[in-house]
Amino acid sequence: MKDGFGRKINYLRISVTDLCSLRCIYCMPEHGISKICHTQIMSVEDIEQAARAAAAIGVEKIRITGGEPLVRRGIVDICRRVAAVEGIRELCITTNGVLLEKYAAELKDAGVSRLNISIDTLDSEKYRRITRVGDLETVLRGMEAAKKAGFTDTKLNVVLLGGINDDEIPAFCELTRNEDIQVRFIELMPLGQCADWDRERFITGSAVLTAVPDLKDEGISGVARVYRLPGAKGTVGLINPMSGHFCPGCDRIRLTADGKLKPCLHSDQEIDIRGLDYEATLAAMKQAVLAKPDGHKMTDINPSDSHRNMNEIGG
Ligand code: 5AD
Ligand code: SF4
Repeated sequence: MKDGFGRKINYLRISVTDLCSLRCIYCMPEHGISKICHTQIMSVEDIEQAARAAAAIGVEKIRITGGEPLVRRGIVDICRRVAAVEGIRELCITTNGVLLEKYAAELKDAGVSRLNISIDTLDSEKYRRITRVGDLETVLRGMEAAKKAGFTDTKLNVVLLGGINDDEIPAFCELTRNEDIQVRFIELMPLGQCADWDRERFITGSAVLTAVPDLKDEGISGVARVYRLPGAKGTVGLINPMSGHFCPGCDRIRLTADGKLKPCLHSDQEIDIRGLDYEATLAAMKQAVLAKPDGHKMTDINPSDSHRNMNEIGG
């Protein structure tokens, strides 16, 4: 269905847990988070019902996010049920890749269409520094497992961290030469943990084009502008939430792990659907679409109005 500004909303992002196996410095506090009480987390049935209600108002694509979705118990069952909802044509997952070695084949079998894997560096020591606890080798093995399981068109999410990983922009772009992947550079948004970071950490997507001038523009796809190295199999995507303001093309609503519909990532408006029956959930979905603001006012000096950390909203 269309929102109040004529935008077609056909995409729902569902966070299935706020927990994560990593502690990325820009996302999570060092000592983890206070767990949402178990009874507040949406059940598998709640999630399936939300997916059905979303499909009924025209949602065709669902993304499962977290926290880290693969740490949620029953994640394969959740995927299987959501993938089976009539009208849902695409079911994607955004994962940090740590558990992919274990789950890739099962997720493929459950009907997951595509994967986004977050990987902010190709250097083991730096990976440990950024994620505080992670092991890069595990994620690389997870990526191999995904390939073996038959996943194609996988996207690698790289959050641009000025002075930390911008020196690796060319190396990341090189990965696209021989593989049908998309490396997506995402501008760091000042919310949660990194809201008060030094300005030098926030660099714009244009840094990628400066570092790799060979990239050829192939146009816009969703929220990304897509580029390709001459003759490369894969592509490079720039996601510029800060410098690019893609709000006019916004096509999504979000559902948090504790059952709150969020019309916009950066607004603190939330609509609770936990415990509602199907009809009430459907009404809440419509309400969320109609409540979408025209855009966010976030800049590098004006932080997001959402008081949640990214691990609660799911990127
Ligand atoms: N700005 C941009 N991206 C972020 N992510 C988490 N926090 C931020 C932020 N402040 C990204 C993760 C992952 C996705 C779930 O969201 O790195 O790729
Ligand atoms: Fe976990 Fe992703 Fe946050 Fe890192 S950015 S702590 S992987 S949710």
